[in-house]
Amino acid sequence: MKEHRVALRTPMPADEVFDRLQHPESFTEAGIESVEPTAEGDRYALRFRGGLARWIQRTEADHAARVLKFDQVSGDFVDFGGSWEVTPDGTGSRIVHRVAFRTSVPHLAGAIEPMIARVLLRAAADVVSGLTGEAEVVEGALHDEAPGAKPSVAAYTAPSAGAALEPTTIERRPLGPHDVGIAIHYCGVCHSDVHQVHGDWGDGTFPMVPGHEIAGVVTEIGADVTRHAVGDRVGVGVIVGSCRDCGMCVQGLEQYCAKSVETYAAIDRYHGGEPTRGGYSTHIVTDEHFVLRIPDSLPLDQAAPLLCAGITTYSPLKHWDAGPGKKVAVLGLGGLGHLAVKIAHALGAEVTVLSRSERKKDDGLRLGADHFHATDDPATFDLLAGTFDLVVCTVSSRLDVDAYLSLLANGGTMVYLGITDEPLGVSVFSLLRGRTSLAGSQIGGMAETQEMLDFCAEHGIGADVEVIDATRINEAFDRVRHGDVRYRFVIDASTFES
Ligand SMILES: NC(=O)c1ccc[n+]([C@@H]2O[C@H](COP(=O)([O-])OP(=O)(O)OC[C@H]3O[C@@H](n4cnc5c(N)ncnc54)[C@H](OP(=O)(O)O)[C@@H]3O)[C@@H](O)[C@H]2O)c1
Ligand SMILES: [Zn+2]
Ligand SMILES: [Zn+2]
Repeated sequence: MKEHRVALRTPMPADEVFDRLQHPESFTEAGIESVEPTAEGDRYALRFRGGLARWIQRTEADHAARVLKFDQVSGDFVDFGGSWEVTPDGTGSRIVHRVAFRTSVPHLAGAIEPMIARVLLRAAADVVSGLTGEAEVVEGALHDEAPGAKPSVAAYTAPSAGAALEPTTIERRPLGPHDVGIAIHYCGVCHSDVHQVHGDWGDGTFPMVPGHEIAGVVTEIGADVTRHAVGDRVGVGVIVGSCRDCGMCVQGLEQYCAKSVETYAAIDRYHGGEPTRGGYSTHIVTDEHFVLRIPDSLPLDQAAPLLCAGITTYSPLKHWDAGPGKKVAVLGLGGLGHLAVKIAHALGAEVTVLSRSERKKDDGLRLGADHFHATDDPATFDLLAGTFDLVVCTVSSRLDVDAYLSLLANGGTMVYLGITDEPLGVSVFSLLRGRTSLAGSQIGGMAETQEMLDFCAEHGIGADVEVIDATRINEAFDRVRHGDVRYRFVIDASTFES
């Protein structure tokens, strides 16, 4: 429960305000249901229930009442109320108005609380003015930042390549007509974040706020937004922009658009050339086309990794027809790998995990694999030679690719998802012998990402997560680098603020 407060100075002396408070009828017009003195004597409890919808309509008709179905929302709130503290202030009085909410729908609270608080605080100011004459705000605010302002939000940033991440404040762009403002609840830690902060892929753009596995709730929408509403549970993945016009974009393959914009460490050509900053932050503003709906049945912490690891594995599994009758090997059981196992299993394929050792065997079988083999045992390669229709490689460093190509059945494909900047060094003979293919695949388009989220909801698939506070990001990075994660770190975004 969060408290919002505003202090108002009024010309009416405190005694007189107390007198008037004895006659709460005068308030009902303004929507207050009751005013009760509390045990402290100088404090009055106000009940707003029931009056809220009227206030909203009066004060926020153009925006809040339209995007929020407030009658329903007020039903969801099991309790919301406030209090006035009245104390003498020179010749007048000082009224401190506090509002606090308790809700039966926790994920709505973060999105809706600030809006309701704004309405109630403003309404309180109206009531105080009506009661006492002109009231002046002396502390707190009646309004959120004015439209057009650049909201400052808490984040974690890497100041330079290889440096530890540290807390910072960043600006998000003002909400444009097609933009969605999102309160981030969770952000996954992808191995790509670790690579990029370490400068593994050449010069990065620093300072860097990583994070492209974002799950949260819509707090604001631009005037022309049609796909999302305030209160919706949503996600943002690896890209936040593309040209929307080229052959790739038209086919829904925005991830292969030559002019796509990544969620962080990119230059946003569609928004004034600003560097993009990712989800290690409390809020983000994103064009609605790149915002996905997260089905209600998926917990937001488990859904966050689907926005990168989930779609990165789902897309190639679908493209290469993983399904009944197909033998699929998942190479590397990490963030991507564990979701590849769950998804390939749900698609009906026969799934084998190829992990460096036997350590993760129980997990692999629990996640849905039919078989598990350790690649540190040379016998594995003899045993499985010529077996797989598809080998999905999620390993984040160099491998003996020829050895894995030898595991493909005739016509099979080994698809690279894991990223190493070292040359692969493949023998052509490995490809000729069984007319096999070596391929790569990168995340997925927006429509396919939505399809993946819906598929995961239908099959009860979320990531296996270890939720951490922001203060543990650097430790998490070290652990990802050492393969010590089962199977995704997810940062609780509320801890960016402290
Ligand atoms: N293509 C794309 O669009 C895309 C999207 C997201 C991420 N990625 C890339 O995919 C890779 C994996 O990401 P992730 O987040 O899943 O990482 P992760 O959680 O660290 O998992 C990688 C797994 O690879 C295996 N592995 C690590 N080092 C190895 C080594 N030296 N030799 C053999 N196996 C090794 C480990 O599995 P075992 O312990 O089971 O052996 C490890 O759990 C990263 O390179 C990332 O940048 C690509
Ligand atoms: Zn990623
Ligand atoms: Zn394009």
